[in-house]
Amino acid sequence: MKKCKLLVSDVDFTLLGDKENLSQFAEWFEEHRACLQLVLTSGRFIESIMESLRETDLPEPDYIVGGVGTEIQSYPERHSIAAWDADMFGNWDGDCVRQLLSEFDRLEPQADEFQSDFKVSYFLPEAGSGELDSISEFLQDQSIHAELIYSSDRDLDILPAGCNKGTAAEFLANHLGYEPDDVIVCGDSANDLAMFQYDFSGIIVGNAHPELRALEGPAIYKSPRDYAAGVLDGLDHWLHRRPRMPVTVPDTSSSSHPGEPCSFARINLSPWS
Ligand code: GLC
Ligand code: MG
Repeated sequence: MKKCKLLVSDVDFTLLGDKENLSQFAEWFEEHRACLQLVLTSGRFIESIMESLRETDLPEPDYIVGGVGTEIQSYPERHSIAAWDADMFGNWDGDCVRQLLSEFDRLEPQADEFQSDFKVSYFLPEAGSGELDSISEFLQDQSIHAELIYSSDRDLDILPAGCNKGTAAEFLANHLGYEPDDVIVCGDSANDLAMFQYDFSGIIVGNAHPELRALEGPAIYKSPRDYAAGVLDGLDHWLHRRPRMPVTVPDTSSSSHPGEPCSFARINLSPWS
């Protein structure tokens, strides 16, 4: 059910990273659940995010995007969205990509649990742009339409072209009927970068990698606070200090509080630690 805002947040080192910050976020989120839908988005697969939901204070989301955008499921029903799979993954053959790339000595395949038919992942410490370009050109020469996502100076994910956390967030926003101004995205590393390329309101947490902290633009808020405290600070920024859209329920027939404006309390962050 559509609500007032859609919050799409990365998990590792964005919401997860500091227990106290996370429980403050979880408490705030539960108080505002009627006004917000939550999407957890991760480089990890959905099964692994399910474990984190059991073991940490992460709030229960409405959707989970896993494997850097290769999987989308509703929560708790765990229904996949058929249009996403069919549209995105047409002719992709992950094993063929793995086989072709075996000639690149510096590519160290990640363990099997981090691989799927659609997500081909390697460790590649400190790759330069030339090295990434040559992998990309090699795949193009083989007529493989791939998306290369290099993050944390180490992880290289190779996915079907057009599949990433940004396209997954945009797809879900459209699917659920949100205008870009009503979507808030949060992240810490380059696998989140694509989410900041839409006109969504962006939150970059204080502990983010330089590749993300370097982003600039009217829709980017770089919090000085770390992890979930950065997310809360960013929410206060976009909901109160610099709202981009009036905070009202957009669709009175399907909203949780028909006709009532959604009210988001100002967020009092605990003192700096
Ligand atoms: C997560 C995944 C890993 C991926 C990385 C960057 O750590 O487990 O496979 O390479 O995110 O997207
Ligand atoms: Mg992260």
